[in-house]
Amino acid sequence: MKSFSERVVAWQRTHGRHTLPWQNTHDPYRIWLSEIMLQQTQVATVIPYYERFLAKFPTVADLAAADEEDVMALWAGLGYYTRARNLHACAKRIVSDWGGRFPPTAADIETLPGIGRSTAAAIAAFAYGERSPILDGNVKRVFARHFGIEGVPTKRVVEQRMWAIAQAEVPAEGPDAAEEMRRYTQGLMDLGATLCTRGDPDCGRCPVRDTCTALREARQHELPTPRERKAVPERHTGMLVIEKGGEILVQRRPSPGIWGGLWSLPEFADGDPGLACRHLGVAPAQTIRLPRFSHTFTHFRLHVDPWHVHAGSLALRDAGQPQIWLPTSELAEAALPAPVKKLLQGLFARGGLV
Ligand code: ADE
Repeated sequence: MKSFSERVVAWQRTHGRHTLPWQNTHDPYRIWLSEIMLQQTQVATVIPYYERFLAKFPTVADLAAADEEDVMALWAGLGYYTRARNLHACAKRIVSDWGGRFPPTAADIETLPGIGRSTAAAIAAFAYGERSPILDGNVKRVFARHFGIEGVPTKRVVEQRMWAIAQAEVPAEGPDAAEEMRRYTQGLMDLGATLCTRGDPDCGRCPVRDTCTALREARQHELPTPRERKAVPERHTGMLVIEKGGEILVQRRPSPGIWGGLWSLPEFADGDPGLACRHLGVAPAQTIRLPRFSHTFTHFRLHVDPWHVHAGSLALRDAGQPQIWLPTSELAEAALPAPVKKLLQGLFARGGLV
C-alpha cells in the first residue's frame, strides 16, 4: 500500500486542479496574495479580484508603496477587510525588514502580520517546495475523517494532534521532494474542496478511501465533530440612499472598523430617515422604504433598513468623514461593500431612476 501522501500526490496529478491563476508560478508574492484572498472566500469569487490586484500591484514593492485607500478599493467586495490591511502592512515589512525579498522559510513568513502557521506553510510549500505541513479548515476535515480524530478541530488539544499528523504525513525527503510537496499541498486542498466536502463527501472517488476511518465506520457525517454554535449578536441600522440628479451620497468609512476605508451609505440609528437627512443637510422631497437585508460579519449579524430619499434642497454639513456624490453609472467600479453594492445595483440596474 502506498503512503497517504503518495496517493494524494498521484490523485492530484490526474484529478486535481491545475489551471488556477496562482498555480504554475513559484513567485512567493503571487502565491501569498492568492492564499490571503482564498481565506474564507471561494475560488470563483477570488479570481477577478486576484487579477485586478496583480495588474495594479505586480510586485511586493508596488504594494508596499501604495496608498491604503487604493489597496482597500481593490479589495472592496471581498470582505474580511483586515486581510487587506494586514497584506499592506506585510508588504511594508517585507520591504523594510527583508530588503524587498519575500522571507525564505515558513518560520520567517509566519512572523509577518496576520499570517498564521498554515498560511505560512502553504506559501513556503508552493513557492519553495519546503516540507512544511498545512492545516486549514478543509485539511482538518480530511484528517478528522481519515484518521478518525474525535473532538472539535478548533480546540487546542485536537488541533495539536492534527498538527502532529500533518507533520508526520508530509512526503518523504528525496530528489523530488519539492515537487511532491507542492502537489501534496495542492492535493490536500483539492481533496477537501472537491471530494471530502462537508455535507456530501464523494468517497467512491477518494484516493485514500482504503484507509479512511470515517468511511470504514460510516461516520463521515459525524466527523469532524461539529462545534457548538453560539448565538451571534444582532445589530440594526438605517441606511440612506440619497439621490440627486443621478448621483448618490456616499461617505468614506473610518478605518479601522467595519468596512473601514470603503465608501458606503450614510447610516442612522433612531429609525427616522427624515431626521437623519436633516442632520446631513438634506431636505427630502420623497422618502421610500426599501426591503430590509442582513449581512453576517465575523462577530455579529447586521440588519439594515434602507430608505431611498429623493433630495430636495441641499446644504450638506460636515459629516466628520469624506463624502462625495457618486454617479449611479459608476456603481460597478466603486469601492463599496458587497451588500451595499448589491442594494444599489438592484435599485439602479437600468441606469437610472424612476
Ligand atoms: N484555497 C487556499 N489555497 C488554495 C489554492 N492554492 N488553490 C485552491 N484553493 C485554495
